[in-house]
Amino acid sequence: MNEAKSRVRLCGVMTSRPARCFRCRRRDCRPSPCTGPRTENSIVTQDLCTHGSSSLSDEGDLQGYIVECSWHEGKFDIRSGQPCALPCTEALRTFPVTIANGEVFIEV
Ligand code: FES
Repeated sequence: MNEAKSRVRLCGVMTSRPARCFRCRRRDCRPSPCTGPRTENSIVTQDLCTHGSSSLSDEGDLQGYIVECSWHEGKFDIRSGQPCALPCTEALRTFPVTIANGEVFIEV
């Protein structure tokens, strides 16, 4: 049985900022996602590293599509959420993204 998903507005599209992660601050948005560039190519994953409780948006380093957790240097490909460096072995949750009228939305 499929659960009903809801559409959540994250932010406006910003094309002038360099690619970086940010954390959604909405209280009703759990788990807090992080994302790459807030552009029409935004990618959204859960914020917390699956190995520990590090916030990838606050403490991670995004290089291209790879975010490195600063706690133990595990890495994830944010396009799929799949881990690509130990000690991370569990994928990040990813969220479908849609862009409408200059706004970034995810399905949760
Ligand atoms: S908490 Fe992220 S690699 Fe350990």
